Amino acid sequence: MARRSLLVGFGGFLPDRVVTNDELAARLETSDEWIKTRTGITRRHIAGPQDTATSMGAAAARKALEYAGLTAADIDAVIVGTSTPDQAFPATAVRIQAELGMAQGFAFDIAAACSGFIFALATADSFIRSGQARNVLVIGSEVYSRIVDWSDRGTCVLFGDGAGAVVLSGTDEAGKAGLLSTHLHSDGTAGDLLYVDGAVGRRDMSGHLKMSGRDVFRHAVAKLSSSVDEALEAEGLSYSDVSWLVPHQANIRIIEGVGKKLGLPPERVVVTVDRHANTSAASIPLALDEAVRDGRIKKGDLVLMEALGGGLTWGSALARL
Ligand code: COA
Repeated sequence: MARRSLLVGFGGFLPDRVVTNDELAARLETSDEWIKTRTGITRRHIAGPQDTATSMGAAAARKALEYAGLTAADIDAVIVGTSTPDQAFPATAVRIQAELGMAQGFAFDIAAACSGFIFALATADSFIRSGQARNVLVIGSEVYSRIVDWSDRGTCVLFGDGAGAVVLSGTDEAGKAGLLSTHLHSDGTAGDLLYVDGAVGRRDMSGHLKMSGRDVFRHAVAKLSSSVDEALEAEGLSYSDVSWLVPHQANIRIIEGVGKKLGLPPERVVVTVDRHANTSAASIPLALDEAVRDGRIKKGDLVLMEALGGGLTWGSALARL
């Protein structure tokens, strides 16, 4: 029996400060109505001065470890999806290791923008399947409030801050539970549709997020659609087998489009974008944490996760809880 990765722990962290659409409308030419109808977003959490990708990621990780009944001493690897690290290096994952008091194992970041959690999950799964790690912390942690241009109403209203974490644990025992498959893609030729204009290696640029909203929307609908087909076909499963869609939370219209394609009723789609906005690599683990803890997602459920982000990057993960 090949080794499989079980999802055994879930955790999330959201900064205290909540910013409503009305609050944004007080300082930008926008409205609650425009934001809600175009995106489904009503509010977002915004990091305070003390919140960083490291501090939020560590907080989410502690909760995921507690849920799993494990301690940091049990963890062999920490993999973090983030586009908003505190420093160029050490990686956020290494800083989180330190926060957790870990001097063992290995830790590194993955830069795949909003697909970061799916890419990190796939990477963790590979280490587990190959026997290089048994327990892995997979984290998405983002402070997009520090890279959006707060004077650009076309982008700043879309994002929020937060972190989510999952503990993956390898098992050799027979059973149907675990991560069934992951599928990753990127298309570097579409990199200019959604990008951050500069970073520590290019300080001559603005460091702000730029996006061609309509083009990204078009790509998201087409690519996420083919991504869910690819995931199910690989496992010989059909739309009706899916218990829950846990999508990246960018826009309610994209989420509903994929849900409809799967023939899933809205109550089988986990939605947080209304309250969190787009937290990039943190959005899927935050949504998973919420739906597992409130009892919606139960043991045995088939969960389909999908995301698309800057790169372009996109992909899916299919798991039986
Ligand atoms: N408030 C009010 N008006 C706004 C606005 C805001 N916050 N942002 C943009 N507008 C205006 C534009 O200036 C434009 O005005 P104009 O027609 O006078 O030029 C008009 O609204 C339409 O803009 P457009 O960008 O074409 O709107 P849209 O219907 O495509 O919706 C998005 C914009 C961003 C909501 C939509 O394109 C989208 O969701 N794209 C995907 C983005 C995404 O998910 N990115 C992350 C992927 S990980």
